Amino acid sequence: SAPLANNPNNVSIPRLGFGVYQLYSQSCTDAVLAALAAGYRHVDSAQLYRNESETGAAVQQAIAAGQLRREDVFLTNKIRNPVPGGPEKTYQSALDSVHKLGGDGGYVDLFLVHIPGTKREAREEMWQALEKLYAEGKAKAIGVSNFRPQHIEEMKEYAQVWPPQVNQLELHPWCQQRELTQYCRDNGILLQAYSPLSCGEHLADETLSSVAAKHGKSPAQVLIRYGLQKDWIPLPKSGKPDRIKQNSDVFDFALDDDDMTTLDGLDKGGKGALFPANVK
Ligand code: A2P
Repeated sequence: SAPLANNPNNVSIPRLGFGVYQLYSQSCTDAVLAALAAGYRHVDSAQLYRNESETGAAVQQAIAAGQLRREDVFLTNKIRNPVPGGPEKTYQSALDSVHKLGGDGGYVDLFLVHIPGTKREAREEMWQALEKLYAEGKAKAIGVSNFRPQHIEEMKEYAQVWPPQVNQLELHPWCQQRELTQYCRDNGILLQAYSPLSCGEHLADETLSSVAAKHGKSPAQVLIRYGLQKDWIPLPKSGKPDRIKQNSDVFDFALDDDDMTTLDGLDKGGKGALFPANVK
């Protein structure tokens, strides 16, 4: 089998992305159009979100309107589960998702296994479907999401492409997942941060508000800036044009070491909402 080291699974990813979880139908298309107009060049969808086509439609509209070319925007999709009936069916499901998001006959920039689940055979079947898309150039890079170190180590037993390009995780000051992120860094795996705004839950936090006031920025902007300075790739979600724009306006200020230390101190040490304590 192919060597595990020095694999060519290596692309450049815009440092800020737009997340589309819980955006549906026309409001999803409208939000992605607002994001592209605001300057985002990275959009993160998934089979699970049930908006792959609506997200893709916005990109196609922006291309048709001459706002950008396909190669200017980085599109991510995620496979949710293997399809009953065998590897060919699972591959076909992933290929359909490439075309929903990337356009008929098109490609995606990144395709992830969304959730490790509990079965190795499932992880293996999904990864092999993505490896096939990768070999065919229909996914420019492939990676994982919500994987723990044991899942990534296990991949060495079946993967042709290792390491995965990214591991996309819930990451924000209250959920820093330090051991896991260190493992990823040690292995050259990029980190994408979903729910970088803590799903809105902690936006009124006093510590956060004081850092925001110091910089004349909103709490959401501080959280996104924090993620950027951690070398995560934050993927904030909003359905509101003013917030979409605000969340991209984060390159004209920097948090200092004191701010970072203060925000580092907010960690609760958990594994994220998808991983309650009783799930391995
Ligand atoms: P809305 O879509 O109504 O703007 P996360 O990215 O961590 O998942 O957080 C998304 C949540 O944060 C959504 O509820 C979203 O609501 C809200 N949100 C996004 N941007 C902002 C912002 N700039 N200010 C306040 N709330 C925001």
